[in-house]
Amino acid sequence: ARAGAARRAGVLGINVGANKDATDRVADYVAGVTAAAPVADYITINISSPNTPGLRDLQQGAALAELLAACMAARGATPLFLKVAPDLDAGMIDGIARAAIDARVDALVMGNTTVSRPPLNARDAGETGGLSGAPLRDLARTRLADMRRATGAAVPLIAVGGIDSGAEAYARIRAGASLVQVYTALVYEGPGLPRRIVQDLAALLARDGFASVAAAVGA
Ligand SMILES: Cc1cc2nc3c(=O)[nH]c(=O)nc-3n(C[C@H](O)[C@H](O)[C@H](O)COP(=O)(O)O)c2cc1C
Repeated sequence: ARAGAARRAGVLGINVGANKDATDRVADYVAGVTAAAPVADYITINISSPNTPGLRDLQQGAALAELLAACMAARGATPLFLKVAPDLDAGMIDGIARAAIDARVDALVMGNTTVSRPPLNARDAGETGGLSGAPLRDLARTRLADMRRATGAAVPLIAVGGIDSGAEAYARIRAGASLVQVYTALVYEGPGLPRRIVQDLAALLARDGFASVAAAVGA
């Protein structure tokens, strides 16, 4: 497995969703995971796109357990992450935590865009669809902390949603994230952003006496 990985630099993650018109969504995810596993360093199964009607229903109950079992069987030796929405109540958080632990997924990604609407001073505030970036930041940070409480340290957490600085990356790590991802902020800040985040994060870790990122996770 992952024959290609040895021949290139960097880390290749592949994000797998289901087609809008799939009649058997689990089979659709399994087909994606099976195709991605030989070439990816990790696979994320995304059950939290707000653009595929009914997709977020996979985030609970027997549907989630069935999906995770099928995808874990298909992933071979490639790490498998589960990406969920920030639009979850406490019961759903607990259910996802239990399902992820039971299925032994390698990490939980918190999270996708929100369909909620924090106060927005924008003409397009009433548009439907997923909201990303700065207005998502507080919700994403809160849901990450909720997921950390629900999982203990049993599953590594990956934080995403409104992260645009070393200070915010540090806050997520302290709240339980082992890794952070940036998306929207790259649009506004450009490709120099990761370097600035790493530099500022290193300074914050040193200020507070942490010898490594790992030492600060959930601290
Ligand atoms: C235009 C757009 C397309 C996206 N497509 C995907 C996708 O295909 N799969 C996925 O898991 N998340 C997708 N996302 C969600 C982002 O990966 C990320 O989780 C979310 O935007 C929150 O992070 P951010 O505030 O840094 O953008 C998309 C977001 C946007 C704005």
